[in-house]
Amino acid sequence: MNKVISFAFTAVCALLFCLVCTDNASADEELAQATQKSSEMVSSEQKSDATALVVYFSWSGNTRNVANSIAAQTSADVFEITPETPYSDDYDIILDFARAEHGSNARPAIAGGVENFDRYNIVYVGFPNWWADMPMILYTFFDRYDFSGKTIAPFCTSGGSGLSDTVRTIRELEPNATVLTGLHIRSSSASDPDKAVSEWLASLGLGKQEKTK
Ligand SMILES: Cc1cc2nc3c(=O)[nH]c(=O)nc-3n(C[C@H](O)[C@H](O)[C@H](O)COP(=O)(O)O)c2cc1C
Repeated sequence: MNKVISFAFTAVCALLFCLVCTDNASADEELAQATQKSSEMVSSEQKSDATALVVYFSWSGNTRNVANSIAAQTSADVFEITPETPYSDDYDIILDFARAEHGSNARPAIAGGVENFDRYNIVYVGFPNWWADMPMILYTFFDRYDFSGKTIAPFCTSGGSGLSDTVRTIRELEPNATVLTGLHIRSSSASDPDKAVSEWLASLGLGKQEKTK
């Protein structure tokens, strides 16, 4: 009889032990997921005094549509990057020109500049995918401004290549900034970007409720 009681007791203890372990395992998983998620989101301290800027370059208007949608949904300031020497409006010419700029690692000069760049702590950076990279004028921008301590939210439009390696490139160019998950919108959808933009902002913990000051 004693053996039966002792066996039952051991079995109950083993069951309880398993339950506790399972609980801890799922709690650990949740913690790991939350930690991973939070590294891709903006913390509430960052949000509470967030001052945001949308910076973008657009040759044919697609990225501009997305930039305007982000600005409307976040109340961010906007700076359009334009080259000091305007690009050709001709598609074939700009294709070759952009490839040559890419090949020579050019840094085309930017017309004008951002006033008080230091005051912004969240910078949305937008560009069309050119030859599976950012247009070289974006490199000029990253060279010129100090992004240390800032949060960068990249966005891109393309014919189909997506973001290519641009987010990794931005992380390499700006090792002292936090670079969030990028948004890609196909050029065919760029005229109606609001839903994709609001979902992306929500996934990053940004959006209307975090309206900038
Ligand atoms: C010079 C140049 C290079 C391009 N290279 C690519 C490319 O590598 N992959 C791609 O999917 N689309 C490419 N595209 C298409 C653009 O990324 C796409 O049309 C984009 O939405 C244009 O944005 P914009 O209207 O803001 O200039 C290229 C377009 C141009 C003008």
